[in-house]
Amino acid sequence: MSPTTDQVFPPSPEFVAQANANESLYEHADADRLEFWAEQARRLDWETPFSQVLDWSDAPFARWFYDGKLNVAVNCVDRHVAAGKGDRVAIHWVGEPGDSRDITYNELKDEVSRAANYLDSIGLQAGDRVAIYMPMVPEAVIAMLACARLGLTHSVVFAGFSSAALRSRVDDAQAKVVITTDGQFRRGKPAPLKTAVDEALGTGDDAAPSVEKVIVVRRTNHDPDLPWVAGRDVWWEDTVGEASPHHEPEAFDAEHPLFVLYTSGTTGSPKGIVHTSGGYLTQAAYSFHTVFDHKEGRDVFWCGADIGWVTGHSYLVYGPLANGATEVIYEGTPNSPDEHRHFQIIEKYGVTTYYIAPTLIRTFMKWGREIPDAHDLSSLRLLGTVGEPINPEAWRWYNTVIGGGRCPIVDTWWQTETGAHMLAPLPGVTACKPGSAMGPIPGISAKVVDDNGNPVPAGEQGFLVLDKPWPGMLRGIWGDPERYKDTYWSRFAEQGWYFAGDGARYDEDGALWVLGRVDDVMNVSGHRISTSEVESALVAHPSVAEAAVIGAADETTGQGIVAFVILMESGDTSRDDLITELRNHVATDISPIAKPREINIVPELPKTRSGKIMRRLLKDIAEGRELGDTSTLVDPSVFESIRSQRA
Ligand code: WTA
Repeated sequence: MSPTTDQVFPPSPEFVAQANANESLYEHADADRLEFWAEQARRLDWETPFSQVLDWSDAPFARWFYDGKLNVAVNCVDRHVAAGKGDRVAIHWVGEPGDSRDITYNELKDEVSRAANYLDSIGLQAGDRVAIYMPMVPEAVIAMLACARLGLTHSVVFAGFSSAALRSRVDDAQAKVVITTDGQFRRGKPAPLKTAVDEALGTGDDAAPSVEKVIVVRRTNHDPDLPWVAGRDVWWEDTVGEASPHHEPEAFDAEHPLFVLYTSGTTGSPKGIVHTSGGYLTQAAYSFHTVFDHKEGRDVFWCGADIGWVTGHSYLVYGPLANGATEVIYEGTPNSPDEHRHFQIIEKYGVTTYYIAPTLIRTFMKWGREIPDAHDLSSLRLLGTVGEPINPEAWRWYNTVIGGGRCPIVDTWWQTETGAHMLAPLPGVTACKPGSAMGPIPGISAKVVDDNGNPVPAGEQGFLVLDKPWPGMLRGIWGDPERYKDTYWSRFAEQGWYFAGDGARYDEDGALWVLGRVDDVMNVSGHRISTSEVESALVAHPSVAEAAVIGAADETTGQGIVAFVILMESGDTSRDDLITELRNHVATDISPIAKPREINIVPELPKTRSGKIMRRLLKDIAEGRELGDTSTLVDPSVFESIRSQRA
């Protein structure tokens, strides 16, 4: 069935009747975009109200609401307490081993203030960077908010990343403090984490020069002899825990940098995407309210992402808390101790709004519907997806089995760079097509164009571009303004458009379909990984002479990493052992999420006359397709040898 003739799912009249959004929101935003955003910004408490909305005179460097001042943490915490909502639960936290904590806004305010007082007491100044390398414990959120409160710029590094990855991020941002835990629970077992920090930060001549303190939250308590660097390492409980719960916040400029978050791009090392305060929080708060139809005091929201990713930043911390929401944060994996975990949590806390990646839906499908069917999921009223295109089959299953056919599904397209939702249906307004993100949300403008920037006709694939600046947009790449311009703004420089790196098409009914990356970025289970990063990890292994990596279609994870490697002179290790070793090598060098699904040892790689590896052809091989155009290859027979090695 072609996407255009696909079934359409209009919202139910009951949902429409109570929805936060209606059709006029689009008209309103179209009529005066800047005034629309100014109104959204007034959702926040401004210490000094802004009088200016956008300065785009130095494009692509934007300034939003730039003469206003606010404190992001006050907006996420204190103002709810001041409004008499302090007893409301902000976070229902669920630990992997079964422990749990409910944290009210009152408690959150105290905890954030303690952490801010301690960070202040060690001499950190607004603008300093703090690296946060933690599993999904409440202290991770508290640490982020404490940074925001002091105007410190946090850099959260996913706790599944290797020590080498942590080190490069700490060095790039020149972080003064690293906040971590002793260990983390992984499928029921404690695994060390602090030791990865020690390894990353090094000692003596190799020591990370910027880091002054490492603050350690006790989580697993698994190691009585936890290595400790005197003078550098402190326990959270002995420092933050002892600090005063009263802290007088200061307001910062709307354009004060709130966080840096590293993400993979086409070339080189991961880039530190910079987000600032007023515009970012405006879009996070507005989209949370509108796209998730948030009802304060009634909804229980759950975003399944990790705080190490942008989804965790915007929809686990800033978006929900700016709205005074009650949310669930779950520490562990969906199958610890068994596959019922997510559904038990939905049932226990009466989750109303559930936001996960399509990969997890496909995993649930594999586990079988008996699992969710064994639970009362009737509290759910809205479902969301993020991170990768959702295939219509998974959409329908999500709709029927999880949503009981009554919950609108919002398929949200956005990026680390965009800060918050950009394309999504509006619940209660948009009739959805399974697999389509439908179109830009009010206030956002997008186009699908060809190489020259001309709109492509409906039904044809083009490039997704954002043709107008938006409040949550990245303000740059940490320390590298040229790379910022080059990466995002050079492809359509003449028009002044942001190139997202995704392909897309409009169908005949005007629904927008995002088709996935058109660059060398892979998307594995909704995680962005660049082919060049995995290639560099592989060639760093002594046995590998050359490597080419591609993302091949994968039924569960969206894409799977497939590598083709040429070996140095063959050693003694057997082929199978070497492949295992190389896969593990990538997992330790980058992260287990970057572990190749398949490694093929090949005698040659297909190259053009100018020496460029033709990844497109490798993809054809990996996905079992007939080869595309091979006429530019130096030696087309190379495929026979690759195929025979793969067989
Ligand atoms: C992909 C995650 C299709 C896309 C928030 C984008 C999606 C990249 C969707 C950004 C979606 C994200 N449909 N593709 N709903 N959401 N993507 O920076 O390729 O981790 O460019 O941000 O994920 O990934 P990032």
